[in-house]
Amino acid sequence: MGAIFAAAGSAVGLGNIWRFPMLVGDNGGAAFILIYILSILLIGIPIMVGEFVIGRHTQSNMIDAFRQLAPGKWWRIIGFMGIGVAFLILSYYIVVSGWTLYYAYSSFTGALSDPSCDYEAFFNNYVANPWLCLLSAVIFMLLTHLIIIRGVRDGIEKCSKVLMPMLLLIIGILVVCTFSMPGIHKGISFLLKPDFSKLTISVVLDAMGQAFYSLSVAMGCLCTYASYFGRNTRLVSSALSVSSIDTSVAILSGFIIFPAVFSVPGVEANAGPGLVFQTLPYVFNMSFGNVPFLAYIFSGLFYVLLFLAALTSAISLHEAVTAYVHENWKLPRKKASTIVSVASMSLGVFCCLSFGVLSHWTVFGLTIFDLLDVVSSNIILPLGGVLLALFVGWYLSKALVRREITNDGQVSQRVFPIIMFLLRWVAPIAILSMFVKGVMEMIGV
Ligand code: PHE
Repeated sequence: MGAIFAAAGSAVGLGNIWRFPMLVGDNGGAAFILIYILSILLIGIPIMVGEFVIGRHTQSNMIDAFRQLAPGKWWRIIGFMGIGVAFLILSYYIVVSGWTLYYAYSSFTGALSDPSCDYEAFFNNYVANPWLCLLSAVIFMLLTHLIIIRGVRDGIEKCSKVLMPMLLLIIGILVVCTFSMPGIHKGISFLLKPDFSKLTISVVLDAMGQAFYSLSVAMGCLCTYASYFGRNTRLVSSALSVSSIDTSVAILSGFIIFPAVFSVPGVEANAGPGLVFQTLPYVFNMSFGNVPFLAYIFSGLFYVLLFLAALTSAISLHEAVTAYVHENWKLPRKKASTIVSVASMSLGVFCCLSFGVLSHWTVFGLTIFDLLDVVSSNIILPLGGVLLALFVGWYLSKALVRREITNDGQVSQRVFPIIMFLLRWVAPIAILSMFVKGVMEMIGV
């Protein structure tokens, strides 16, 4: 259970509650969700199992794992891509995590339970304020750093066991509350009625990228965590549990946010990164407005939990990079962790400022923040995913993979051929064809 909760702690984070609704809103709702779920089932879960196989078999970080399994071969590029993308994601992840910290603070000062407040303006003023935003991100990074230098296993595993059920409970209560909102019908039909005319290749790529991002696959985090799994841990059922928890949290977040979006005049479904931060305060106030104390407590609790979910994910991102720097550059853990924190905070500064003073710095029309997000999730993660699938499906010995998946023959063999088929054929063909089409669409061929 501890291992599953730790992996779920890495998977459940801002990706579920902040990024998933943002993409659903940008990409037209139900059709996106359908592709997302297919990507989880046919691509995400098999690759997660593959990562578990590598991690548990080699008992080491992503780069050393490839060194062991394919000495001297170019396959270790997968390890480097994984660590590299973890670093890029960490750099902008801390920015949004900083927002959660500020929103938790603002809940307790009562600013978020004031029904007369314009929450859209509140958010826009906050992100355009460079000092406040930077301060939140730096504090968040410091907290992550302090946990990392102490080592993570005990703390994180124990915390996750308590925090994950709490987060699920609060989300459950909020879903029930949104049923009283005026926008409930519009919200539900947005989430459940697919409009396939909205499906373009870039929407499919977004959905696939989000599946990888949300499950934390193709980045070395799960491989590192799996290296701590015991011989009795069942890899396939663990992957299924982690993915079901992760997908449930994402979809439930949609059920909280969209009824609220359609209840509040002025907020649009495609409001981008601010969506969750602009709509949730309305949910709290509209649901509990007649008992302001409840609105106060709920928004406080929610943002604290969101902050903690972000923290467990940020720690796993940081840990993947730190473990590599510590083990391969032969530096003490403290030094390694400081290098990673400073380097990623430095890049984070630009992401922070891209909502305000640097908003005019764009590449292909994307701000620095959006660029890091799109490049890492839509390009590097799918590529890493293809390579992982090919590595486990074709390069590793079938006997080794079978031994890991069946726990040396103690677990039923029935799923083994299915996982192998998905890894050998479905995942590589699906990802590569979407990827090539997506790139062609982007460059206008
Ligand atoms: N899966 C995390 C989320 O949904 C993000 C993350 C990615 C965490 C990769 C660790 C590794 O927020």
